[in-house]
Amino acid sequence: MKTIIEPFKIKSVDPIKMNTSSERKEILQKAYNNLFLINAKDVIIDLLTDSGTGAMSSQQWAGVMLGDESYAGSNSFLFFEKTVKELMGFKNIIPTHQGRAAERILFSTIAKKGDYIPSNNHFDTTRANVLNVGATPVDLVCDEASDFNSSFPFKGNINIEKLKDFINKKKPSNIPIIMLTVTNNTGGGQPVSMENIKQVSLIAKQYKIPFYLDACRFAENAYFIKLNEKEYKEKDIKDIVFEMFSYADGCTMSAKKDAIANIGGFLCTNDDQLAKRKKDLLILTEGFPTYGGLSGRDLEAIAYGLLEVIDQDYLEYRISSTAYLGKKLNQLNIPIINPPGGHAVYIDAKQFLSHISIENFPGQALACELYIQGGIRTSEIGSLMFGGRDESDDLFFASHELVRLAIPRRTYTQSHIDYVIEVFAKIKDKSHKIKGLKIIDESKTLRHFTAKLERC
Ligand code: F0G
Repeated sequence: MKTIIEPFKIKSVDPIKMNTSSERKEILQKAYNNLFLINAKDVIIDLLTDSGTGAMSSQQWAGVMLGDESYAGSNSFLFFEKTVKELMGFKNIIPTHQGRAAERILFSTIAKKGDYIPSNNHFDTTRANVLNVGATPVDLVCDEASDFNSSFPFKGNINIEKLKDFINKKKPSNIPIIMLTVTNNTGGGQPVSMENIKQVSLIAKQYKIPFYLDACRFAENAYFIKLNEKEYKEKDIKDIVFEMFSYADGCTMSAKKDAIANIGGFLCTNDDQLAKRKKDLLILTEGFPTYGGLSGRDLEAIAYGLLEVIDQDYLEYRISSTAYLGKKLNQLNIPIINPPGGHAVYIDAKQFLSHISIENFPGQALACELYIQGGIRTSEIGSLMFGGRDESDDLFFASHELVRLAIPRRTYTQSHIDYVIEVFAKIKDKSHKIKGLKIIDESKTLRHFTAKLERC
């Protein structure tokens, strides 16, 4: 079998400060058991997110030095625009300060109260931005997605029959857009097949509904297509990427993921009229359309990142290193979503900590334990993130209680990942002793970022 190693050398490093589990216990208590409220300096391995936390290349840093900071029509914008156009093929490229700003502009211009936005799964910021304009986000992911042990390679697919039924039931006039998240972050970082993208595009055309990709992890998705759809085995990633986007009318993008930049995003559309309205709103809230809330140097870093992320060696390493973590956790019998996705491994905390009821957040309890035992910061993707109280003040819960181990791009070595695996081995034998949590303070939207919790 081919040996895959990190296809880069380390040129600049950030120190990691070691601390002890008793120190971490105290730190976590002070942060009310919310890992968003602890300081990065107190974390040993930070798997909270793969968003904006990747390591930039020498070429990206060189681009930073070349950044043209002109207010209008800067060279950096032209380079960024050309790169995105060549990669994705869209007509209008609108920079934003990050993905959620692109989402806000998109939904503010195309959706209104009473509308529905179907997707495979909306990410939390996407969902919140849909709700913010009074529309309803609808998740129609395929049935295979809920079987964590099936080896189906495209669990990010949307359920085509459900999508058709939904459009017929709610009427196309109430559906301003259909979305697909590639890869499907909320559903375990699972990829969407080219076949599924094509089918959604056909349905969208048939009903005259625009079709957008939430493209954050488009390159990882393209690599899974190459691996698992036989007609793409011999194709270049660049061609697969171009084909994926050719079926869509536009996209939202967080450059903090597959553009391997620390900040940034963009919004693309082929509709010139809509682009004009989006740019008007952009000027009002983000900035002039040739910078959109970013500096010229950010646009350079994004453009180079987009060119680097489609490199075959990089993607092979990226997907294999996530698979390595998944394989080792499977060997320890830690329940995970199989097969592992591109950017993260997701632990099924409901099964792993089956003694903790979902009211007491088994995912958050596991995330806290990983921090105490190993200084590992992860994120709960379960009822703390997606649950809450409805209009009648009744509790509702997420469909799964997951903990995400998100792997920043080009940042940690295999030895760091082996450390994470050792911590899991340590936790496993004492897992029945882990206690649940209850919320003592929460916000109305996106509560997981700021909620305060205490042990039951
Ligand atoms: N869509 C998806 C699928 C995402 O994963 C994210 C961000 C966004 C949109 C929003 O982009 O952060 O640039 O505003 N996901 C991060 C994460 C935060 O940790 O998964 P943003």
